[in-house]
Amino acid sequence: MLGCRRIRPQHTDESISRVEHKRILLIIGGGIAAYKCLELIRRLRERGVGVRVVMTTAAQQFITPLSVSALTNERVFTELFDLDDESEIGHVRLSRDADVILVAPATADLIAKMANGLANDLASSVLLASDKPPLIAPAMNPRMWLKPATQRNVRQLYADGARFVGPETGEMAERDEAGPGRLAEVPALIEAIEEMTASDRSARTHSSTGPLHNRHVVVTSGPTHEPIDPVRYIANRSSGKQGHAIAAAALAAGARVTLICGPVNLPDPAGVETIKVETAAEMLFAAERALPADIAVFCAAVADWRVAQQGTQKIKKQKGEPAPALELVPNPDILRTIAKQKKGRPELVIGFAAETEKVIEHASAKLKRKGCDWIVANDVSAETGIMGGNRNSVHLIREDGHESWPELSKDEVAVALVKEMAREFAVAEEKTQINKTMRAKTHKI
Ligand code: PMT
Repeated sequence: MLGCRRIRPQHTDESISRVEHKRILLIIGGGIAAYKCLELIRRLRERGVGVRVVMTTAAQQFITPLSVSALTNERVFTELFDLDDESEIGHVRLSRDADVILVAPATADLIAKMANGLANDLASSVLLASDKPPLIAPAMNPRMWLKPATQRNVRQLYADGARFVGPETGEMAERDEAGPGRLAEVPALIEAIEEMTASDRSARTHSSTGPLHNRHVVVTSGPTHEPIDPVRYIANRSSGKQGHAIAAAALAAGARVTLICGPVNLPDPAGVETIKVETAAEMLFAAERALPADIAVFCAAVADWRVAQQGTQKIKKQKGEPAPALELVPNPDILRTIAKQKKGRPELVIGFAAETEKVIEHASAKLKRKGCDWIVANDVSAETGIMGGNRNSVHLIREDGHESWPELSKDEVAVALVKEMAREFAVAEEKTQINKTMRAKTHKI
């Protein structure tokens, strides 16, 4: 399953005020899911959001500009070469006037245009002329979504700073078609808009100082859930407290932080871009899409296995039948995949090791096997209470040795680890400076 950005559909008075008076430019692409945009517009208008709409020619095959205009209370923009439109409000102003540009449904064609900088109609010209990254809500047939060409374009857009919501996985409009490709539901779209405006606010108030200023840090956190059937899953006891604390500490040190987290009961750290996933496969996909980064910290307790054949219906208990045997297959190793990347590997890759015996010995072996630069080892035997608890007792293992830290709160561990990261980068920068000076001197001689 690919590309799911899970967003909890919840609306509070606080969330209403978060988007009130915002201006959204909604670019509607030509897909069957375009009808959901009518509901979206209504919900946004209820929240006091100004909605302006651009429709592609294909979108007008699914819903009419008239109904959109009736809901937005504004004219709908459809033509690039419309003299009235261009003199009244040109495509450049259309894009600049908006707080958020949402593309929904983003078809494979629109995504390809955006990724390649094409501008041959109003929608693509507005997107190219925009000075802000768009929020993209893909919707298409699963085969189109999974095609390497589409995935390449999605990766490119991620690298260019675009945000994605969905696609969701499920039944398609076409008969007997299911998989990733459904447009995210309206509550998820609204929540993504809220997140976008919130992170915009935090980016504006973001610290421009601090030892990790100008660095991008990616952190994984929490457990993964590996579905057995629609109601059951394999999980572990990770709470996400340690990973979330590291994300918050890196942010406080001035870094831009992307937190990729499995299912946890913790609030998203303010100012951190949080991507929610469920399975190991989704976590790997999100981690790859979060790159490039200067530092990656893999604190998540990723399930090592998933069931080979996930049940599409709840597995039934049959009277007199033996209990079902689950066949397991290995999950991708996210840390190893990123650490062994030849191109685009973060400069500093930090793994965690959850051990229950011979902690340092086993963790040191993991450091080598997984190809990371440091490993933070902790003893997760039941009696330590570390997994799920508030305190941790860790050993920081590097290639040339290890140091054992006293028992600390997870926040304190996070702050100390971030200090180590900052020190590492300061030393590297100092070395570069010395080399530069030496080279300049040699040149003079
Ligand atoms: O979440 P908390 O309740 O605060 O608890 C924190 C913690 C105990 C989960 C954390 O400190 C910790 O130890 N995290 C690593 C858990 C783990 O899965 O360890 P591991 O030894 O099985 O894996 C080693 C490393 O490989 C880890 O960095 C892990 O993220 C990574 N991994 C493992 C399997 C896999 N398929 N992909 C991975 O990337």
